[in-house]
Amino acid sequence: MKNKLIGILVVGTLAIGLTACSDSSEKAGSSVEKQDDSEVNTPAEQIDKSADSTKGDKDVEKENQDPTITALVNKQNSVGEIYEPTDLVKLDVPTVLENPEVNQLRKVAADALKAMFEDAKKSDIYLYARSGYRSYQTQNQLFNSYVENHGKEAAARFSAEPGQSEHQTGLAMDVTSESVNFQLDESFGETTEGVWLREHGHEYGFIIRYPQDKEDITGYIYEPWHIRYLGVELATKVYESGLTYEEYLEQEGNEYEGV
Ligand code: DAL
Ligand code: ZN
Repeated sequence: MKNKLIGILVVGTLAIGLTACSDSSEKAGSSVEKQDDSEVNTPAEQIDKSADSTKGDKDVEKENQDPTITALVNKQNSVGEIYEPTDLVKLDVPTVLENPEVNQLRKVAADALKAMFEDAKKSDIYLYARSGYRSYQTQNQLFNSYVENHGKEAAARFSAEPGQSEHQTGLAMDVTSESVNFQLDESFGETTEGVWLREHGHEYGFIIRYPQDKEDITGYIYEPWHIRYLGVELATKVYESGLTYEEYLEQEGNEYEGV
Protein backbone atom coordinates (compact mmCIF):
# COMPACT_ATOMS: atom_id res chain seq x y z
CA MET A 1 0.00 0.00 0.00
CA LYS A 2 1.34 3.34 -0.90
CA ASN A 3 1.60 6.15 1.47
CA LYS A 4 1.73 9.54 0.02
CA LEU A 5 -0.01 11.57 -2.54
CA ILE A 6 1.35 14.75 -3.90
CA GLY A 7 -0.57 16.62 -6.52
CA ILE A 8 1.44 19.04 -8.57
CA LEU A 9 -1.01 21.81 -8.23
CA VAL A 10 -1.76 20.87 -4.75
CA VAL A 11 1.33 21.92 -3.02
CA GLY A 12 1.15 25.50 -4.16
CA THR A 13 -2.49 25.72 -3.33
CA LEU A 14 -2.13 24.23 0.04
CA ALA A 15 0.63 26.61 0.81
CA ILE A 16 -1.81 29.35 0.08
CA GLY A 17 -3.92 27.78 2.74
CA LEU A 18 -7.06 26.15 1.46
CA THR A 19 -9.46 25.48 4.27
CA ALA A 20 -10.48 22.02 5.22
CA CYS A 21 -14.08 21.14 5.39
CA SER A 22 -16.14 18.11 6.01
CA ASP A 23 -19.62 17.50 4.86
CA SER A 24 -21.85 18.04 7.76
CA SER A 25 -23.74 15.17 6.37
CA GLU A 26 -21.25 12.43 5.81
CA LYS A 27 -22.10 8.91 6.59
CA ALA A 28 -20.53 5.55 7.10
CA GLY A 29 -22.24 2.89 5.12
CA SER A 30 -25.84 3.27 4.17
CA SER A 31 -27.32 3.74 7.58
CA VAL A 32 -25.19 6.19 9.46
CA GLU A 33 -27.04 9.27 10.50
CA LYS A 34 -25.82 12.60 9.25
CA GLN A 35 -25.23 15.57 11.43
CA ASP A 36 -25.47 18.37 8.97
CA ASP A 37 -26.92 20.82 11.36
CA SER A 38 -23.78 22.33 12.66
CA GLU A 39 -24.36 25.17 15.04
CA VAL A 40 -21.22 26.92 14.00
CA ASN A 41 -21.78 29.91 11.85
CA THR A 42 -18.57 31.35 10.56
CA PRO A 43 -19.50 33.86 7.92
CA ALA A 44 -16.74 33.77 5.38
CA GLU A 45 -15.60 36.72 3.43
CA GLN A 46 -17.67 37.23 0.37
CA ILE A 47 -15.30 38.90 -1.97
CA ASP A 48 -16.68 38.26 -5.38
CA LYS A 49 -13.74 37.73 -7.62
CA SER A 50 -15.51 36.09 -10.51
CA ALA A 51 -18.94 37.54 -10.78
CA ASP A 52 -19.56 36.63 -14.39
CA SER A 53 -21.45 33.39 -14.56
CA THR A 54 -21.22 33.12 -18.32
CA LYS A 55 -17.83 31.64 -18.90
CA GLY A 56 -16.05 31.66 -22.21
CA ASP A 57 -13.29 29.26 -23.26
CA LYS A 58 -10.63 31.58 -21.99
CA ASP A 59 -12.27 31.84 -18.61
CA VAL A 60 -12.50 28.08 -18.37
CA GLU A 61 -8.85 27.74 -19.33
CA LYS A 62 -7.92 30.32 -16.75
CA GLU A 63 -9.82 28.68 -13.95
CA ASN A 64 -8.22 25.35 -14.75
CA GLN A 65 -4.86 26.92 -14.28
CA ASP A 66 -5.85 28.30 -10.93
CA PRO A 67 -4.27 26.05 -8.34
CA THR A 68 -6.85 27.03 -5.79
CA ILE A 69 -9.43 25.41 -8.08
CA THR A 70 -7.48 22.30 -9.03
CA ALA A 71 -5.76 21.56 -5.73
CA LEU A 72 -5.84 18.02 -4.53
CA VAL A 73 -7.13 17.88 -1.00
CA ASN A 74 -7.15 14.59 0.82
CA LYS A 75 -5.70 12.73 3.79
CA GLN A 76 -2.19 13.40 2.55
CA ASN A 77 -2.73 16.97 1.40
CA SER A 78 -4.18 19.22 4.04
CA VAL A 79 -5.43 22.71 3.45
CA GLY A 80 -4.42 23.75 6.93
CA GLU A 81 -6.31 25.40 9.73
CA ILE A 82 -6.29 29.00 8.65
CA TYR A 83 -7.35 28.76 5.02
CA GLU A 84 -10.65 30.35 4.21
CA PRO A 85 -11.80 31.09 0.65
CA THR A 86 -12.13 34.79 -0.07
CA ASP A 87 -14.94 34.56 -2.60
CA LEU A 88 -17.64 32.54 -0.89
CA VAL A 89 -21.17 33.43 -1.91
CA LYS A 90 -24.59 32.38 -0.76
CA LEU A 91 -26.10 29.63 -2.90
CA ASP A 92 -28.96 30.42 -5.22
CA VAL A 93 -30.33 26.88 -5.44
CA PRO A 94 -32.72 24.81 -3.30
CA THR A 95 -31.00 23.91 -0.01
CA VAL A 96 -31.72 21.55 2.86
CA LEU A 97 -30.03 22.97 5.94
CA GLU A 98 -30.49 26.24 7.75
CA ASN A 99 -26.88 26.81 8.74
CA PRO A 100 -25.84 29.69 6.47
CA GLU A 101 -22.23 28.58 6.48
CA VAL A 102 -22.87 25.36 4.58
CA ASN A 103 -25.11 27.10 2.09
CA GLN A 104 -22.10 28.77 0.53
CA LEU A 105 -19.56 27.92 -2.15
CA ARG A 106 -16.89 29.83 -3.94
CA LYS A 107 -18.47 32.03 -6.58
CA VAL A 108 -17.36 29.99 -9.58
CA ALA A 109 -18.66 26.75 -8.06
CA ALA A 110 -21.90 28.36 -6.89
CA ASP A 111 -22.60 29.61 -10.41
CA ALA A 112 -21.84 26.20 -11.89
CA LEU A 113 -24.07 24.50 -9.33
CA LYS A 114 -26.93 26.81 -10.18
CA ALA A 115 -26.57 26.17 -13.90
CA MET A 116 -26.46 22.43 -13.27
CA PHE A 117 -29.52 22.37 -11.01
CA GLU A 118 -31.48 24.48 -13.48
CA ASP A 119 -30.60 22.24 -16.40
CA ALA A 120 -31.41 19.15 -14.36
CA LYS A 121 -34.82 20.60 -13.64
CA LYS A 122 -35.51 20.77 -17.35
CA SER A 123 -35.28 16.98 -17.32
CA ASP A 124 -37.49 16.74 -14.23
CA ILE A 125 -34.48 16.07 -12.04
CA TYR A 126 -34.79 18.01 -8.79
CA LEU A 127 -31.50 18.40 -6.97
CA TYR A 128 -30.86 19.96 -3.55
CA ALA A 129 -27.71 21.32 -1.97
CA ARG A 130 -27.15 19.92 1.51
CA SER A 131 -23.66 20.85 2.62
CA GLY A 132 -21.14 23.02 0.85
CA TYR A 133 -18.49 25.18 2.50
CA ARG A 134 -17.45 24.20 5.98
CA SER A 135 -14.88 26.02 8.04
CA TYR A 136 -12.06 24.21 9.81
CA GLN A 137 -13.94 24.68 13.07
CA THR A 138 -17.16 23.23 11.71
CA GLN A 139 -15.30 20.26 10.31
CA ASN A 140 -13.60 19.78 13.63
CA GLN A 141 -16.90 19.67 15.48
CA LEU A 142 -18.39 17.36 12.91
CA PHE A 143 -15.50 14.94 12.87
CA ASN A 144 -15.38 14.82 16.66
CA SER A 145 -19.07 14.03 16.86
CA TYR A 146 -18.59 11.17 14.40
CA VAL A 147 -15.67 9.86 16.42
CA GLU A 148 -17.82 9.93 19.54
CA ASN A 149 -20.60 8.03 17.85
CA HIS A 150 -18.67 5.60 15.69
CA GLY A 151 -15.07 5.54 16.87
CA LYS A 152 -12.17 7.15 15.08
CA GLU A 153 -11.42 4.33 12.66
CA ALA A 154 -14.97 4.18 11.34
CA ALA A 155 -15.35 7.96 11.31
CA ALA A 156 -12.22 8.42 9.24
CA ARG A 157 -13.69 6.30 6.47
CA PHE A 158 -16.49 8.74 5.78
CA SER A 159 -15.46 12.04 7.30
CA ALA A 160 -12.34 14.08 6.82
CA GLU A 161 -10.38 15.27 9.76
CA PRO A 162 -10.30 19.05 10.14
CA GLY A 163 -7.92 20.54 7.62
CA GLN A 164 -8.31 17.61 5.24
CA SER A 165 -11.79 18.15 3.86
CA GLU A 166 -12.58 19.40 0.39
CA HIS A 167 -15.49 21.23 1.94
CA GLN A 168 -13.11 23.73 3.48
CA THR A 169 -12.09 24.76 -0.03
CA GLY A 170 -15.58 25.97 -0.85
CA LEU A 171 -15.50 23.78 -3.95
CA ALA A 172 -17.30 20.68 -2.69
CA MET A 173 -21.01 20.12 -2.34
CA ASP A 174 -23.14 17.30 -1.00
CA VAL A 175 -26.12 16.92 -3.29
CA THR A 176 -29.31 15.14 -2.37
CA SER A 177 -32.91 14.66 -3.46
CA GLU A 178 -36.37 14.08 -2.11
CA SER A 179 -36.12 10.44 -3.19
CA VAL A 180 -33.63 9.85 -0.35
CA ASN A 181 -35.43 12.16 2.07
CA PHE A 182 -32.81 14.85 1.52
CA GLN A 183 -30.23 12.72 3.32
CA LEU A 184 -26.82 11.54 2.21
CA ASP A 185 -27.14 7.88 1.51
CA GLU A 186 -25.39 5.41 -0.74
CA SER A 187 -28.71 4.63 -2.37
CA PHE A 188 -28.65 8.13 -3.86
CA GLY A 189 -26.23 6.77 -6.44
CA GLU A 190 -28.95 4.57 -7.90
CA THR A 191 -31.71 7.16 -7.93
CA THR A 192 -32.62 9.04 -11.10
CA GLU A 193 -31.08 12.13 -9.54
CA GLY A 194 -27.88 10.39 -8.51
CA VAL A 195 -27.41 8.81 -11.93
CA TRP A 196 -28.00 12.17 -13.63
CA LEU A 197 -25.48 13.84 -11.36
CA ARG A 198 -22.86 11.17 -12.08
CA GLU A 199 -23.41 11.36 -15.83
CA HIS A 200 -23.73 15.13 -16.23
CA GLY A 201 -21.79 16.73 -13.40
CA HIS A 202 -18.62 17.14 -15.46
CA GLU A 203 -20.51 19.23 -18.02
CA TYR A 204 -20.72 21.86 -15.30
CA GLY A 205 -17.26 21.30 -13.86
CA PHE A 206 -18.00 18.73 -11.14
CA ILE A 207 -16.77 15.20 -10.51
CA ILE A 208 -18.02 12.55 -8.14
CA ARG A 209 -15.02 12.65 -5.87
CA TYR A 210 -15.41 9.38 -3.98
CA PRO A 211 -16.55 6.69 -6.42
CA GLN A 212 -17.56 3.17 -5.49
CA ASP A 213 -14.80 0.71 -4.58
CA LYS A 214 -12.07 3.34 -4.54
CA GLU A 215 -11.57 3.67 -0.81
CA ASP A 216 -8.02 2.37 -1.14
CA ILE A 217 -7.27 5.31 -3.42
CA THR A 218 -9.38 8.15 -2.11
CA GLY A 219 -9.38 7.12 1.53
CA TYR A 220 -13.17 7.34 1.73
CA ILE A 221 -16.11 5.08 1.15
CA TYR A 222 -18.50 5.61 -1.76
CA GLU A 223 -20.14 9.02 -1.62
CA PRO A 224 -22.35 9.42 -4.69
CA TRP A 225 -23.51 12.76 -3.33
CA HIS A 226 -20.16 14.50 -2.88
CA ILE A 227 -19.15 16.53 -5.90
CA ARG A 228 -16.01 18.60 -6.32
CA TYR A 229 -15.67 21.55 -8.66
CA LEU A 230 -12.62 21.43 -10.93
CA GLY A 231 -13.84 23.47 -13.88
CA VAL A 232 -15.46 22.01 -16.98
CA GLU A 233 -12.30 21.14 -18.86
CA LEU A 234 -10.54 19.31 -16.08
CA ALA A 235 -13.69 17.68 -14.70
CA THR A 236 -14.47 16.36 -18.18
CA LYS A 237 -10.99 14.92 -18.52
CA VAL A 238 -11.23 13.24 -15.14
CA TYR A 239 -14.72 11.93 -15.92
CA GLU A 240 -13.68 10.56 -19.28
CA SER A 241 -10.63 8.91 -17.77
CA GLY A 242 -12.83 6.90 -15.44
CA LEU A 243 -10.23 7.50 -12.75
CA THR A 244 -10.36 9.07 -9.32
CA TYR A 245 -8.78 12.51 -9.10
CA GLU A 246 -5.77 10.99 -7.35
CA GLU A 247 -5.26 8.47 -10.14
CA TYR A 248 -5.81 11.07 -12.82
CA LEU A 249 -3.17 13.36 -11.37
CA GLU A 250 -0.75 10.49 -11.14
CA GLN A 251 -1.40 9.58 -14.75
CA GLU A 252 -0.70 13.16 -15.71
CA GLY A 253 2.70 12.97 -14.11
CA ASN A 254 2.07 14.03 -10.57
CA GLU A 255 3.91 12.22 -7.89
CA TYR A 256 1.51 9.82 -6.33
CA GLU A 257 2.01 7.06 -3.84
CA GLY A 258 -1.53 6.30 -2.89
CA VAL A 259 -3.30 6.38 0.41
N1 DAL B 1 -16.97 13.22 3.58
C1 DAL B 1 -15.79 13.87 3.12
C2 DAL B 1 -14.67 12.90 2.97
C3 DAL B 1 -15.42 15.03 4.02
O1 DAL B 1 -15.67 14.94 5.21
O2 DAL B 1 -14.87 15.97 3.52
ZN1 ZN C 1 -19.10 15.94 1.06
